[in-house]
Amino acid sequence: MFSNPNLVREGSRLYVRSMVPEFKVHGERLLRKNGAEWREWNPNQSKLGAAIMRGLKTEIPVGASVLYLGAANGATPSFVSDLVGAGGAVFGVEISARAMRDLIRVCEKRENMLPILADGRKPETYANELPGYVDFVFEDVADPAQARILIENARFLRKGGIAMLAVKARCVSSAEQPERVYKAVEAELSGTFETVEKMQLEPYEQDHEFLVLRKR
Ligand SMILES: C[S@@+](CC[C@H](N)C(=O)[O-])C[C@H]1O[C@@H](n2cnc3c(N)ncnc32)[C@H](O)[C@@H]1O
Repeated sequence: MFSNPNLVREGSRLYVRSMVPEFKVHGERLLRKNGAEWREWNPNQSKLGAAIMRGLKTEIPVGASVLYLGAANGATPSFVSDLVGAGGAVFGVEISARAMRDLIRVCEKRENMLPILADGRKPETYANELPGYVDFVFEDVADPAQARILIENARFLRKGGIAMLAVKARCVSSAEQPERVYKAVEAELSGTFETVEKMQLEPYEQDHEFLVLRKR
């Protein structure tokens, strides 16, 4: 991940090079260094940030296009926007009209981000907003049918493209042991994707597994 020049780690802290100087998305610390502004990325508030701190090897490179499901108020999507830079794109799908208001405020400042008010379970409703195929699909949605949502959205992912899913064990089943939930989710995904990486997100998030998958 650290071959992306827009990302640096200093000890327990992560920073991205900001495309929008002096604009904070959620109160993060801003630093000036080597003529650029860097935003601190708190891994306790972002599953992707947590996965990077846990040693994520898969790169989200400069110039990549990303379909982001569960964009919320735009916090983690804004860090992805900085990672991919002006030549990349982040399409943020969010179901909540309340969260969408904040997401729009973030997207207005970032030319590589597009907000989409839609339900990730109904990909046909936003197909027209997307440019054919994307390089990455990222999903962080609290829905028991998380795996099904990713499979449905794989239609937008180019062959060999990468999907990332933060599996929320307690959301899929509060009765089942998390390990059994992770196995069942992987089995469901295996027809569409091969698993490239997987990791637990402790100590940043409890009962979450982060999956990196390649579209078959
Ligand atoms: C955990 S939050 C995402 C946080 C965000 N990824 C971040 O790190 O900044 C989950 C979001 O998914 C949204 N969501 C839930 N179900 C959804 C669906 N079916 N389609 C799109 N978004 C959904 C929720 O409204 C919520 O904003």
